[in-house]
Amino acid sequence: MTSQRIMNLLKEMTLEEKAAQLMQLVAAFYDDGDEGQITGPMEAMGISEAEVNRAGSVLGVSEAEKIIKIQQAHLAKDRLGIPLLFMADIVHGFKTIFPIPLAMGCSWDTELAESSAAVAAKEAAVSGLHVTFAPMADLVRDPRWGRVMESTGEDPYLNALFARAMVRGFQGSDLTRDTSHVAACVKHFAAYGLAEGGRDYNTVDLSERSLREYYLPAYKAALDEGCEMVMTSFNTVDSIPASGNRKLMRDLLRGEWGFDGVLISDWAAIREMIAHGAAEDDREAALKAITAGVDIEMMTPTYVHHLPQLVAEGLVDEALVDEAVIRILELKEKLGLFDNPLRGADPEAEREVIYCDAHRQVAQELATKSCVLLKNEGVLPLHREQKVAVVGPFAQNGDILGSWSWAGSRETALQLGASMVKLAGDNVVLAEGNGIMSMSKEQLQQADAAVQEADVIVLALGEASEMSGEASSRSNIQLPGAQLQLIQAMKRHGKPLAVVLFNGRPLDLHGVIDQVDAVLEAWFPGSEGGAAIADLLYGVANPSGKLTMSFPYAVGQIPVYYNHYNTGRPKPAEDTEEKYVSQYLDIPNAPLLPFGYGLSYTTFDYSALELSSEVMTPEQSLKVTVEVRNTGELRGVETVQLYVRDIAGEVVRPMKELKDFHKVDLAPGETAKVVFELGEDKLRYYHSDLSFASDAGSFEVFVGPNSRDTLQARFRLIK
Ligand code: IFM
Repeated sequence: MTSQRIMNLLKEMTLEEKAAQLMQLVAAFYDDGDEGQITGPMEAMGISEAEVNRAGSVLGVSEAEKIIKIQQAHLAKDRLGIPLLFMADIVHGFKTIFPIPLAMGCSWDTELAESSAAVAAKEAAVSGLHVTFAPMADLVRDPRWGRVMESTGEDPYLNALFARAMVRGFQGSDLTRDTSHVAACVKHFAAYGLAEGGRDYNTVDLSERSLREYYLPAYKAALDEGCEMVMTSFNTVDSIPASGNRKLMRDLLRGEWGFDGVLISDWAAIREMIAHGAAEDDREAALKAITAGVDIEMMTPTYVHHLPQLVAEGLVDEALVDEAVIRILELKEKLGLFDNPLRGADPEAEREVIYCDAHRQVAQELATKSCVLLKNEGVLPLHREQKVAVVGPFAQNGDILGSWSWAGSRETALQLGASMVKLAGDNVVLAEGNGIMSMSKEQLQQADAAVQEADVIVLALGEASEMSGEASSRSNIQLPGAQLQLIQAMKRHGKPLAVVLFNGRPLDLHGVIDQVDAVLEAWFPGSEGGAAIADLLYGVANPSGKLTMSFPYAVGQIPVYYNHYNTGRPKPAEDTEEKYVSQYLDIPNAPLLPFGYGLSYTTFDYSALELSSEVMTPEQSLKVTVEVRNTGELRGVETVQLYVRDIAGEVVRPMKELKDFHKVDLAPGETAKVVFELGEDKLRYYHSDLSFASDAGSFEVFVGPNSRDTLQARFRLIK
């Protein structure tokens, strides 16, 4: 129930004050003069000082002192004393930077992801922030899209688990009393990850059934976990821009799902309805957005300029504006801002808490668990007695934080080369090698010189962090040509070659994985990345990450994902001679590396897959048991994955769908009996009439180390 305080405020507020409460501005509008974090186009706003003074929230400022100053100055001017909300993108850490979300996904460790979000929240809260624009719960299938780095991958089930974990970590359990957490804002509602051709902001077109089945579950999971806010996406959904999409926002999000928290537009997304061709002008855009249920308008002034008039003309019911204002005021109240407008902002505590050892330890642990060993032919782990040359653009480079790490410091990030020297001293020689996009003759000579005495060459390669993230789509997702040339040049030395990759998307690895002896995918591992990778390279830690997004064989295959349909003419085998089957003439159908894939320095053997019964009923779930044995010589952690296929559905069903996973930590020679409980609830899906139910019939269950190499068994569901 809305509090008396809020009802009283609402009575006092003029229509102009209400409209301004719905406006969000960047730091540049405040006395401070500091630009803060700019994450969108800076269009002319054409707003008056009075409107700025009445605005409801600020985006992209950080640091306790600045926020305290802005809040105090605002309160001195605001006649009703309504505090500002401060929001920012704390996506994978604030100052202590964690691996990018796509990497976090590869840890399959939701508890650790939750801890990372709690650390990020603590650092952000002490800096004065109240809301983070995270988690990003967009399902992704197209690595050309730069924002895949911000998602946990291509699987709806896993994405939902991570979305929940991140919300728990950010928000804690009591935002009012506990000022060390911040409110979360799940984004981008909806289906932003399906941009056509992987080009950012591009059209999205899909059936409502697919939307519900694959794209909505992770956002819904975040809301079920109590996520306070939702952000609209830039794209159209069923040809209507999300920020003006009444069916999506008012009917589904608010009506069907009962979401009564704050819905914010993405940056300028309300005005962008004009460019989309869904509104003639700002006035119509404002009308559509408020009708759809969008509460806060980020960085365009259509609400502040037009809502009062639209209400006066009877085109917008004032109750709609009131609802939006109430939701914002309620969030302020929940965060305790009316009683304590400075909330957690504390410059002294900021110095103690931010980037402290305990936080950095969590970052290192998560980075260690997020790296994925893609290939290893006897090179890794390295021995400290070996002479190792570290070559390439990331040998000595702090650009390992990845996109959305604006508050982090590249200068203090632990670099790979220095971290390896720390472990193996003089036995490590560092060379610059080349730049990310180019290599001069001198740089090549330097690399050649560095490897002369080496027993092993470690090539540190990848994309600059600006090559992924927002507005950073690529059509060619190979490593830049200069780096492929460097591989060839290093190969000529005839020494074992291990590549460490720093990048924000699955790459086309031709010219890399087929040329070298080992590949460790490090993604953008965050502030402690160098130390984590050095530990992995030297076997202080054993790789355990598993891919959560397929690595394509070639760009021409994209989108390529494990939970695809079979088609009516499936290819019987990769080497088939048949013509009239669904295939490419020049490349395989399968991705180069499938979802769930990742090696270890030890090996695991799967056997004895058993079902407790050949029949399942809604009342009687199955026990699925498998034996996993560590057949190598080192201790290792394995993520045992369970997939299901519904053999014949009312609508066609994916070839495999992840339903569960367990981690086992095994000593050499040790065997674990892994038991999964599989119930009828896991077999439900959206039918053509959008009902969510299971169908009686045959199913296959698969268990294995990845989505490709599985054992399988069959059962029937009887209803
Ligand atoms: O939160 C982001 C969003 O993901 C993309 N556009 C800008 C927003 C605010 O920075």
